Amino acid sequence: MLERQGRVEAALDCLLPGVEHAPARLHSAMRYAVLGGGKRVRPLLAYAAGELVAAKPGHLDLVASSLELIHAYSLVHDDLPCMDNDRMRRGKPTVHVEYDEATALLVGDSLHSLAFQALTDNALVADATRQLAMAATLARAAGSSGMAGGQAIDLQSVGKRLSLPELEFMHVHKTGALIRASVQLGAMCADSLGAIDLELLDRFGKLAGLGFQLVDDVLDAESSTATLGKTVGKDAMDNKPTYVTAVGVERSRKLASELCEEALAVLEQFPRGGERLGDLTRFIFHREF
Ligand code: IPE
Ligand code: IPE
Ligand code: MG
Ligand code: MG
Ligand code: MG
Repeated sequence: MLERQGRVEAALDCLLPGVEHAPARLHSAMRYAVLGGGKRVRPLLAYAAGELVAAKPGHLDLVASSLELIHAYSLVHDDLPCMDNDRMRRGKPTVHVEYDEATALLVGDSLHSLAFQALTDNALVADATRQLAMAATLARAAGSSGMAGGQAIDLQSVGKRLSLPELEFMHVHKTGALIRASVQLGAMCADSLGAIDLELLDRFGKLAGLGFQLVDDVLDAESSTATLGKTVGKDAMDNKPTYVTAVGVERSRKLASELCEEALAVLEQFPRGGERLGDLTRFIFHREF
């Protein structure tokens, strides 16, 4: 994981414009938002899914970067005063606190564009049609039918009590969609797609995506600000419906364990190569930060 985290860090560093290029302040803020922090779970999932289909790590670097750029943009906007109004992220002041709100808005816009630039500037796979499908997959995952749509549901749900199916719907969109796309895009880097059961892999991605946000809900209620690098207790403070408010911490943990087992069972159906995805699954569901 450390090796892969280093790879994606280097790729992101290359992609992000240097501060010697105008507008220096925007470029500085973009680098501040992306570099030197975060667990890099989405890139790690893309690398691990790629490994399952014997894709070359070099081909996966830009795919991994594009996923992290969309994720980083979503965090910058998520933290804005008009959304979650958070002042700390990845152990340091949020972008709008360190810079200003307008810059944070533009950082998000620019990272969003840079993600698609990364995915389309160079030939990543031999088949151009497949690369087009990869860009479309990321677009769908990030937009109103995916992450941004889930964020809209999150905001309109403040102060409400959601049923479990409604909560699941919100979570699979705001967080699940990009996690799912990470697995899909990694697998789409294979030399030949025929050899792998993409549908099975997608079933795995859906479970991991829902589980990732479920665990995020639990950590918000149970962890510490120092461990998470972001303010804990925010969901309760903001009256956000979460798995914790819906069913409590104990049952949320139990649901997470069940989802983890389900996800691991899907991976077992692959004859070989699913070990790294299995390790990541255990990390996603049992992580402490
Ligand atoms: C936090 O994501 C926001 C969610 C989608 C739950 P991560 O927990 O992946 O945050 P970083 O990238 O490690 O900071
Ligand atoms: C954010 O969910 C999901 C995104 C799409 C960014 P949260 O609002 O729970 O994420 P944190 O807890 O601030 O990282
Ligand atoms: Mg939020
Ligand atoms: Mg938030
Ligand atoms: Mg959260």
